[in-house]
Amino acid sequence: MKTLLLALIAFTMSLKAETKVLAFAGSTRAGSYNQKLVLEAADIARKMGATVTVIDFKDFPMPLYDTALEEKGMPAQAKRLRQLMIQSDAIIIASPEHNASISATLKNALDWTSRNAGSYSAEAYQGKKFAIMSASPGKGGGARGLVHLRAIIEAVGGDVMAKQVSVPTAHQAFDAKGKLESASLTQELQQEIQQLIPASLAKNDAASKKL
Ligand SMILES: Cc1cc2nc3c(=O)[nH]c(=O)nc-3n(C[C@H](O)[C@H](O)[C@H](O)COP(=O)(O)O)c2cc1C
Repeated sequence: MKTLLLALIAFTMSLKAETKVLAFAGSTRAGSYNQKLVLEAADIARKMGATVTVIDFKDFPMPLYDTALEEKGMPAQAKRLRQLMIQSDAIIIASPEHNASISATLKNALDWTSRNAGSYSAEAYQGKKFAIMSASPGKGGGARGLVHLRAIIEAVGGDVMAKQVSVPTAHQAFDAKGKLESASLTQELQQEIQQLIPASLAKNDAASKKL
């Protein structure tokens, strides 16, 4: 009886310890460097014991934010993305740098998911941890866009990890399997994801799902 009780307590504690992570890149481009980067970050998060869901923005097409559209109800894919965010404890986002900012695709998705029933809603952001990163063929790795991404997420109530990673010359940064070639960038990514995942999860078995 005592053993059963202890097992039940251990099981309940392990359930509580689960960290659900959602990971996506703000790109719909086939072969996106940011999607490769987010997959790498997701792998690291799984190894640290998190349950990770990786999504592809190609599967979440949504119209540009528009008040008249919103009055008819939130577009289906925006609603779906918002629900996935609400169900997550932590979110990993990789953004392309477009003209020194984030991609319009990503900004649009962030705007839709900061809304509900025609008004502002922080539910998909408040109390959640965010790890942000970027990859670009340029020398800066898209770091300028992350200044904006951090400001946007914080404006809506998200907690953005201090560490962030940018991958420069991204067209040469990944091997044929899509893995980061640079050991130092991989280490930086591990440090960033470590900030996102509680240390208590470190040796748990990981469960993962790909939509
Ligand atoms: C409209 C536009 C603006 C861009 N501006 C920048 C930029 O300011 N800095 C940069 O490093 N790359 C810039 N790029 C190049 C992107 O970094 C490159 O297309 C990258 O591959 C996009 O990320 P992805 O591979 O994840 O789709 C721009 C690309 C487009 C289409």
